Amino acid sequence: MSKSRDFLGPYRLSRLIRIGSTAEVWEAVDDTDMQKKKYALKVLRSNCANDKSEVAALKHEFNVGKALSSPRIIKVVDFIADKGRPFLVLELFSELNMKQALRKGPEPLGYIVDKIVEQAAEGLYYMHTKNWIHRDIKPDNYLVARDGETKLIDFTIAETKRTGISKLFYKAKTVQGTRSYMSPEQIRGKLCDERSDIYSFGCVVYELVTGKPPFTGQTPNDLLSKHISASIPSAAAQNNNVTSELAGLIKRMMAKKQEDRPASVWEFLKEYRAIETWRKRPRVPEESVFDEVGGVKSADDMVKRPGS
Ligand SMILES: Nc1ncnc2c1ncn2[C@@H]1O[C@H](COP(=O)(O)OP(=O)(O)OP(=O)(O)O)[C@@H](O)[C@H]1O
Ligand SMILES: [Mg+2]
Repeated sequence: MSKSRDFLGPYRLSRLIRIGSTAEVWEAVDDTDMQKKKYALKVLRSNCANDKSEVAALKHEFNVGKALSSPRIIKVVDFIADKGRPFLVLELFSELNMKQALRKGPEPLGYIVDKIVEQAAEGLYYMHTKNWIHRDIKPDNYLVARDGETKLIDFTIAETKRTGISKLFYKAKTVQGTRSYMSPEQIRGKLCDERSDIYSFGCVVYELVTGKPPFTGQTPNDLLSKHISASIPSAAAQNNNVTSELAGLIKRMMAKKQEDRPASVWEFLKEYRAIETWRKRPRVPEESVFDEVGGVKSADDMVKRPGS
């Protein structure tokens, strides 16, 4: 018989997918369901389960996600606080996030990159049409499947788009986001809009075709100052198989001023669909990056390998 510690509500935890800084993501089965449907549970780690701001962030993610319905966005099914361990119930999707899928560089994904970029953009565009700014667009926040199907996740710091008078008085209480992908205005705590996500998405497309984020720094401040003032690198200079058209489009997405970027993700998609990504079509790799998904298999493994 299963031990109760392996259950959260009706969900039996079957496999740990990933341990993050504040949450664990588990594959779980709904034992009360005839079909034994599988989900992903995003569970606050025990040291964060009583932290009011972490619980509020998880609830916020539920509130953002529950109103979104698109095949390009992970469905947020429920928010439950069981045994003092609050968790989200999510649609279960691919084992790999985009960062992991890129761990052997851009080549293994080259032949499906057009599909990945388009679907990643469609997920973001859908969010924008519902008046949400994601504010944490990065490779770790996209899940990618073997055939290139891609879904956007992690709405923890999403904000509604501000309009009218509320725009004038905006000042971020704290600067949130991920340094390697943050737009200059987000770093400065200024008002973010669709074009701030487009900047971050430009960094994501750069990484998809070169294997590296556009800027790195010796220190966190060094990295941030590069987003603010360093010249924008060319993806074609990093990878000579990238067309100059795509390199130019990425550069415009990463323009320092919002008004110099594509005005919407839709504008980006129109342009992207009209150009080639690669000069020479990449081959289908013999070994797929999706074949060797490692990771911890059960709660017991986790206890044995706390550092993994
Ligand atoms: N629905 C899902 N299906 C499969 N895997 C998922 C799902 N949701 C999240 N994951 C995995 O868990 C990771 C972390 O998820 P998420 O980004 O929502 O949490 P996080 O709190 O931002 O974590 P971190 O502290 O690592 O940034 C994802 O990058 C992905 O690998
Ligand atoms: Mg995340």
